[in-house]
Amino acid sequence: MNQKESDRVILDKFAANFGSESIICDMGCGPGHITRYLFDKGLSIFGIDISERCIEIARRENPRMRFQVMDMARLDIADESIDGIIAFYSIIHTPKRSVKILFCEFNRVLKMGGKILIVVKKGSTEGYVDELVGLKTRLYFTNFTEEDLETYLRTSGFELISMETRQPYDFEIPVERIYAVGTKRARYI
Ligand SMILES: C[S@@+](CC[C@H](N)C(=O)[O-])C[C@H]1O[C@@H](n2cnc3c(N)ncnc32)[C@H](O)[C@@H]1O
Repeated sequence: MNQKESDRVILDKFAANFGSESIICDMGCGPGHITRYLFDKGLSIFGIDISERCIEIARRENPRMRFQVMDMARLDIADESIDGIIAFYSIIHTPKRSVKILFCEFNRVLKMGGKILIVVKKGSTEGYVDELVGLKTRLYFTNFTEEDLETYLRTSGFELISMETRQPYDFEIPVERIYAVGTKRARYI
């Protein structure tokens, strides 16, 4: 995170949308480093993740912050109760055929006019990966194009505000990164 100037610029810009009363959820927060970055900026932010292990680490590393085990596809969050959503490389483990469910949940829990930031790796492939940075694994990865994100947002009640694509840093997996920001304009259901 600290090495990624472009992430900080985008997160700072996104954070500027919110006031002291705003509530933001970091969806698929992992160990919570993005959550903490924004918490330290003064945002009321909490993190959720489907992985019990990630939430355990996030809680241990950030004892003053709130983290909960939760599935983005079935959020235990009231309708139209939060102001912002960050999904930082977290929709990338969901098969494309199921991604729409996530956007419907994002729409349901966001207030009208609420803002969403989605970050993904660019591409058109998806499937299981058996090796990652030299380690054996079994993880599903989905890549997205700018058009994919625009369509998911538009067809789930969001208006696209901005879309930025950047080249990978030398120390990252060599795939372009896409940052899409949207705002809720309509109830999906
Ligand atoms: C690549 S990591 C990104 C973690 C963090 N957002 C970051 O940028 O460092 C993806 C995270 O999304 C979580 N995740 C994947 N599918 C999820 C789902 N359906 N609901 C909640 N979390 C999910 C994973 O457990 C994992 O922690």
